[in-house]
Amino acid sequence: MENNVFEQLAKRYDTEERKQLAKVITEEVRLELQDSLSKSLIDYGSGTGLVSLEITDLVDTVLLVDSSKQMLEVAEAKISHNRVTNTNVLYSDFTQETPRLEADVILMSLVLLHIPDTKKILQELYDILNVGGKLIIVDFDKNDKVNHPKVHNGFVHEGLKRQLSEVGFVSTEIKTFYHGSRIFMNQDASMFISNSIK
Ligand SMILES: C[S@@+](CC[C@H](N)C(=O)[O-])C[C@H]1O[C@@H](n2cnc3c(N)ncnc32)[C@H](O)[C@@H]1O
Repeated sequence: MENNVFEQLAKRYDTEERKQLAKVITEEVRLELQDSLSKSLIDYGSGTGLVSLEITDLVDTVLLVDSSKQMLEVAEAKISHNRVTNTNVLYSDFTQETPRLEADVILMSLVLLHIPDTKKILQELYDILNVGGKLIIVDFDKNDKVNHPKVHNGFVHEGLKRQLSEVGFVSTEIKTFYHGSRIFMNQDASMFISNSIK
């Protein structure tokens, strides 16, 4: 976990471009969290908290989970600076080992593309969700202009929906909500939001 690209990027991660994109994502995610004031939320692959630290007012508790210690250090500094009282961080990689946790909502924003075995991580997240809980995924639509050995070049809605159903989710809705210029490895791209119920 130590030697990953995000460890080196952490202190420089919050650029204007990334903050702008996170704002677009946050606006869309907030719409999915109406009536969630009593819910626990895990932000898996939280990074520096650009998205989840903007939604702490909508849920009961927030746990930022990431496999990069340094990304979490940046997030922790923001949590203490802003005196956020319902939010904690956890250094963990569920593709290696999943701790005993449960949550009503799991959010994964721009993380699925970085995890080689999509179905395995979806299964791990399904297992820690409470029955009736919700998995929210934000990621890029499939993009043939992107080509990188360590990153999925986006996802096809129907394929992802099938994998979510195979791990046990009873329903999934997916929609594209944003098109942007040079937002995915310097290519024009679109983002989807997926909402699945356990
Ligand atoms: C592109 S950043 C997205 C950060 C944040 N979710 C956002 O939308 O601003 C991807 C994050 O996923 C984390 N990550 C990648 N693979 C992971 C894994 N297997 N388990 C946990 N976190 C992971 C990285 O360390 C990084 O912080």
